Amino acid sequence: MKPFLVLGIETSCDETAAAVVADGRRILSNVIASQIELHGAYGGVVPELASRRHVELIMPVVEEALREAGVVPADLDAIAATQGPGLVGALLVGVSFAKAFAYAGKKPCVGVHHIEGHIAANYLAHPELEPPFLCLVVSGGHSHLIAVESPTRHRVLGRTRDDAAGEAFDKVARVLGLGYPGGPVVDRIAEAGNAAAFRFPRVQFADAPYDFSFSGLKTSVINVVNQLRQKGEPLPVADLCASFQQAVVEVLTAKAVRAARECGFHTLCLAGGVASNGALRRNLEMETQKNGIRFFVPPPILCTDNAAMIAAMGTIRAKAGYVAGLGLNAEPALTMNLE
Ligand code: KG4
Ligand code: ZN
Repeated sequence: MKPFLVLGIETSCDETAAAVVADGRRILSNVIASQIELHGAYGGVVPELASRRHVELIMPVVEEALREAGVVPADLDAIAATQGPGLVGALLVGVSFAKAFAYAGKKPCVGVHHIEGHIAANYLAHPELEPPFLCLVVSGGHSHLIAVESPTRHRVLGRTRDDAAGEAFDKVARVLGLGYPGGPVVDRIAEAGNAAAFRFPRVQFADAPYDFSFSGLKTSVINVVNQLRQKGEPLPVADLCASFQQAVVEVLTAKAVRAARECGFHTLCLAGGVASNGALRRNLEMETQKNGIRFFVPPPILCTDNAAMIAAMGTIRAKAGYVAGLGLNAEPALTMNLE
């Protein structure tokens, strides 16, 4: 039988990405044009520059995705684009392109929630995975614990009250002068550091055990850095990175495992850019094993922003009948179905 082919498009932040996925599980192509070099000089994403670069890249990136997959537009069963959340100008490029492409080819167009896309990366990496499961989504913009009750039903159990985990990595890297994005560099440098060198705070909320907070942790690292600089002492960068990372990893692991146990989930998935973090992957692997919980995490290329995950979630939504009309619009603050 002919596979169900979906073209996915992702332009919510600083990656212009397009991918073709078959039957929601098999990646035929996954093209990602990163804008990291463009924004690196500014220490973070500049929204206006991101939108302009998306406009330049969207056509060639989609063409390459189709070529690599060996399909022509007529073969596609649906077009899926990230509808939100994200930078409005950046999202508009992907959404407008998807609508035009769908209209021209008389294909259904589907809007996808970016976080639901991150979760769906796990379906691509693990063909046997089916809901229900618990998913810890940790990225530059989000830190959520989500109960995946069915492929289309996502319930938020906990979330960050301030900074996202990836945002904390980026800000700590910035104060240490390590460049943008900070997560991968801190991850690498932390390998050589002592995670017990500094005791940074691990925040708990008595009334909301699955909520996170990383702002106090980030401030605490910045304070230590400033004190050392004022005293003219050399910065123990590797120890600072390792101790900061340890605090993030312990909190994420403890809350995810606790939520899985208390809410009766036998499977825990990890998703989002921070899911590429080596220490987090190892710690979750160990703690889930101790607690008899199955643990799934996609390879790093499917953790950071990509369009294969959008095509995977788009397939689920298209098959469930969530097809958008030409009124589909970018929603920078889009909420999940039940959020
Ligand atoms: O999912 P993503 O690509 O974009 C968002 O939706 O935000 O995540 C990007 C975030 C950035 O904050 C980046 O620093 C972080 O993920 N990140 C990491 C690692 N790789 C990327 N954080 C920690 N360790 C990593 N290895
Ligand atoms: Zn993301």
